[in-house]
Amino acid sequence: MKKANIAIIGMEVMGRSLALNMESKNYTVAVYNRTAEKTKAFVEGPARGKNIIPTYELKDLVDSLESPKKIMLMVKEGQPVDNFIEMLLPYLKPGDLIIDGGNSFFKDTIRRNKMLSEKGILFIGTGVSGGEEGALKGPAIMPGGQKEAYRLVEKIFRDIAAKAYDGEPCVDYIGPDGAGHFVKTIHNGIEYGDMQLIGEVVWFFKNIGMKADEIADIMAKWNDRDDILRSYLIEITADSMKQKHQGSDEFLVDRVADITRMKGTGTWTVQSALELLVPIPTIAAAVFSREMSQDKQLRLAMAKKLTIASGKFNGDKKEIIEIAHDALYIAKISSYAQGIALLQAASKEYNFHLNIGRIAKIWRAGCIIRAQFLDEITKAYESDPDLPNLLAAPKFASFVESNTWKLAKFIDVAHQCGVPVLAMSGALDYIMQITSPVMPSAQVSALQRDYFGAHGYFKIGGPKDPELVVNEEGKVREFHTEWLLPGRPEREITK
Ligand code: 6PG
Repeated sequence: MKKANIAIIGMEVMGRSLALNMESKNYTVAVYNRTAEKTKAFVEGPARGKNIIPTYELKDLVDSLESPKKIMLMVKEGQPVDNFIEMLLPYLKPGDLIIDGGNSFFKDTIRRNKMLSEKGILFIGTGVSGGEEGALKGPAIMPGGQKEAYRLVEKIFRDIAAKAYDGEPCVDYIGPDGAGHFVKTIHNGIEYGDMQLIGEVVWFFKNIGMKADEIADIMAKWNDRDDILRSYLIEITADSMKQKHQGSDEFLVDRVADITRMKGTGTWTVQSALELLVPIPTIAAAVFSREMSQDKQLRLAMAKKLTIASGKFNGDKKEIIEIAHDALYIAKISSYAQGIALLQAASKEYNFHLNIGRIAKIWRAGCIIRAQFLDEITKAYESDPDLPNLLAAPKFASFVESNTWKLAKFIDVAHQCGVPVLAMSGALDYIMQITSPVMPSAQVSALQRDYFGAHGYFKIGGPKDPELVVNEEGKVREFHTEWLLPGRPEREITK
């Protein structure tokens, strides 16, 4: 019997869809699931008559493969991944490859890569984005691991990946060990940010009296071919908001509870940001907003105890829609700037050697955050790989410079109408902070720390000179004031 080119373990929706996708590109795929029924249902259903080989023992799965063996795990992240690796090991030889295509925590991937490398087994941790449809018709794929491991599956991945408008497959080697899963995690964090920002705009429109279908029409327009906001998430917002509640005249969106759950990647993004000291206020606001959304009972109770006064919108509707459009675009730029800054910090810390331009290129199609906008990001980093921040890219900088007042205005009007816009506010304040040569209040806090804890402070040249005071060797000088001594003398701290 013909040997299979690759195996997939895990016959949930993503595993099944990837198997069908690979088969459609002329690969023979062996499949396995912990419970045999799922494998049977798959091969007797959507995989019937296709080059998909069902197996019911892991040994048979491995035997059915050509060498070197390539086995892709599409199982729940965490313990199930470790369990399968453990169970597969007795059947594998040095040079064989395990691929983890789930949303795994990148530090687990680093650990697994190390453990398997010591046994000569290659390991790829890869992000696969695009949901069921993406997996079936073309996902964005973010593989990390040994380069030689990637070479073994490069052709398969390029064949099954989504193709951007210029025909480029949305896959590229991301970097060593945990790089692929880290990048997928940040993709998801950015996805949370996008979703929250869109949600805040939609909720604002609703609060100034627009109906769901009217908002859907605005979103559809914002998804026009040449619109700067054109993206998959705007497209599905337009589409889903028109949906009626089964058999009634009500819109489904008006009946869906305001509770957004999450599986963990957004939280990991914020945890990494905290560990690496990278501010990501928009993405964090998106995670915090999901947390607040889940505390429905508390909000119901609090609403009975406290009423926050809010005004009625009496401005020009057409004008505020245009303002909201540009505000959303600026907030999106800000949110991506935050996510990219986090990628860059992690790249340094974990030696991922990430190439931001190439990552943005992969995200242009197939994945959940796919958007026209990612082509602009790709170009920005292609023309200047050393950009200090996405906001500094000339095209974005000029738009932000002339339109940030709209984001401020939108936030102001939203607050006056009683609409919380945590992510929008985070996006605006991020822009304001990162462009402040002297940060408001930082000097005050620095002084307070020195006052109560002798923690020291740095100095600037003067009220009109925001540059740091340095010594002859260019090292920043540090000072402490003896707050408790008479005359409060200042001394330089030398270590
Ligand atoms: C993707 C998605 C996918 C999944 C998210 C949902 O890129 O295809 O991001 O990975 O839908 O994990 O995450 P939450 O359940 O945390 O919203």
